[in-house]
Amino acid sequence: MSAVRVLAFAGSLRKGSYNKKLAKQFAAAAERAGAQVTVLDLADYPMPIFDEDVEAEQFPERAAAFKEQLRRHDAFIIACPEYNSSITAALKNAIDWASRKTTDDEAPLEAFKGKVVALAAASPGGFGGLRGLVPVRMLLGNIGCLVLPQQLAIPHVQKVMAEDGSIGEEAIQKQVDSIAQALVDTATHQRAG
Ligand SMILES: Cc1cc2nc3c(=O)[nH]c(=O)nc-3n(C[C@H](O)[C@H](O)[C@H](O)COP(=O)(O)O)c2cc1C
Repeated sequence: MSAVRVLAFAGSLRKGSYNKKLAKQFAAAAERAGAQVTVLDLADYPMPIFDEDVEAEQFPERAAAFKEQLRRHDAFIIACPEYNSSITAALKNAIDWASRKTTDDEAPLEAFKGKVVALAAASPGGFGGLRGLVPVRMLLGNIGCLVLPQQLAIPHVQKVMAEDGSIGEEAIQKQVDSIAQALVDTATHQRAG
């Protein structure tokens, strides 16, 4: 059987994003676990704030391209910053666009249904972005994703993550490896079933 396809991305647009670096750490771990991994930068998919009038006029090309990336993969790794104890606007907006049909013959929520998801967060703050993962988990579950119960939130990330994204604490790196392994195992199982 071919390797499971995993898409890793962050819910942050900023260049120096800790969460982009964390998504890359998970991507490398998923590759070691045998997956075929694509790393995506949401900043490469600029899209307007979702508006049904804009959608009716013309579905934005980059929103469609982002949705196509989701469609092509079996599983997602999403590292999402916490903004005001919730999901970032960039991630919510991208999900809203990708939840919409782009052709008449596609099934509802085709980009999300049955996809296995691993969630992570990193923050300079003391909660590590943990509170923001609650709404992310809820909404992805409600649109048909299977969100792994295991997740990682890294508090005071500036103390444990180097400039290149490497993680200085062995216990945290082990969690990254174990969640990535669980993602690949679950996605493999899902595909077989
Ligand atoms: C609008 C806004 C709201 C924020 N709210 C929170 C918050 O509720 N909890 C938290 O831990 N950090 C919060 N932060 C700080 C972010 O965790 C920090 O900027 C982090 O580096 C963002 O993730 P990134 O590095 O992946 O871009 C907030 C930042 C912004 C810009």
